[in-house]
Amino acid sequence: MEHVYHFAEHGPGTNQGLLSQLVVPRPIAMVSTRDAQGRGNLSPFSYYLPITGDPPLIGIAFGMRESDGDPKGSYVNLIASGDFVINVCSEVFADHIESIAKEYPHGVDEAAMHGFEWIDSRRVSSPSVAEAPARLECVVHQTIPLGSDLARVVLVVAEVVCAVIADSVLASPDLDHPRIDLLALGPIGRSGARSFVRAVPEAVYHQERVPYLPTDTPSDL
Ligand SMILES: Cc1cc2nc3c(=O)[nH]c(=O)nc-3n(C[C@H](O)[C@H](O)[C@H](O)COP(=O)(O)O)c2cc1C
Repeated sequence: MEHVYHFAEHGPGTNQGLLSQLVVPRPIAMVSTRDAQGRGNLSPFSYYLPITGDPPLIGIAFGMRESDGDPKGSYVNLIASGDFVINVCSEVFADHIESIAKEYPHGVDEAAMHGFEWIDSRRVSSPSVAEAPARLECVVHQTIPLGSDLARVVLVVAEVVCAVIADSVLASPDLDHPRIDLLALGPIGRSGARSFVRAVPEAVYHQERVPYLPTDTPSDL
C-alpha cells in the first residue's frame, strides 16, 4: 500500500516539513556575516545546494523570521555587504547547531556566544570561523524572491570566490586536483524532523563511476 500526499491539500508548514524529511540528508551551511555595526552573525542553513562550477555558484533559500516575519539577520547582512562565508558544518559545530539557530535579536554574535573565534576572511568582508576546517567565501550573484505571502523566501545565488581548507582535511595538497578527506572533514548533515547525520566510517561507502558503454545490456544497468 502507498499513501499519496497532495501538497495542495495541506498548509505551507506541513508541506515544508515533509520536504525537509524527504530531501535528506542535506548539507548545512554555517553562514557568517557582519552587520553594519561590525558585529558578527553565525546561522545554519540547510536549504543549500551547489549549482555549477563556471562560475562556481551555490544557492541558499532564506525564509523569514518565525517570531516577527522580518528578514533574517544573515540575509539582511549579506545583502548590505554583498558577501558571506559558508563555514562547512563539521564536528566542531555538532553540539551547537540548534542553539546557534535560535532567533536571537539582531546584533547578537552567536559565534562568540558559543566560544568560536572570528578571523578575517581572505577575499570577502564577512568574517570566517577559525575552527571551521573548510570555508567557502561567497559574493552575492543574484537574489530570487520565491514562495507566497504565507511562506516568503529568497533564493540567494552566490559565487564562491575562494575556498580556505585546513591541511588536516586535504587528502592531497595538490590544489590543481583537490581531494578532501571526508572523514577528516567530518561534515554534519540535516536529516528527518529533528535529527542530524555525521560521516562515520561505517556509514560511508564507495562506488566507482562507471561510463555507459553502447554494448551494455539492460541486465548490466
Ligand atoms: C539545521 C538547520 C537548518 C536551517 N536551515 C535554514 C534554511 O535553509 N533557511 C532558513 O531560512 N532558515 C534555516 N534555519 C533557521 C535559521 O538557522 C535561523 O532562522 C537563523 O539562525 C536565524 O538567525 P539570523 O536571523 O541571525 O540569521 C535552519 C535551522 C537549523 C537548525
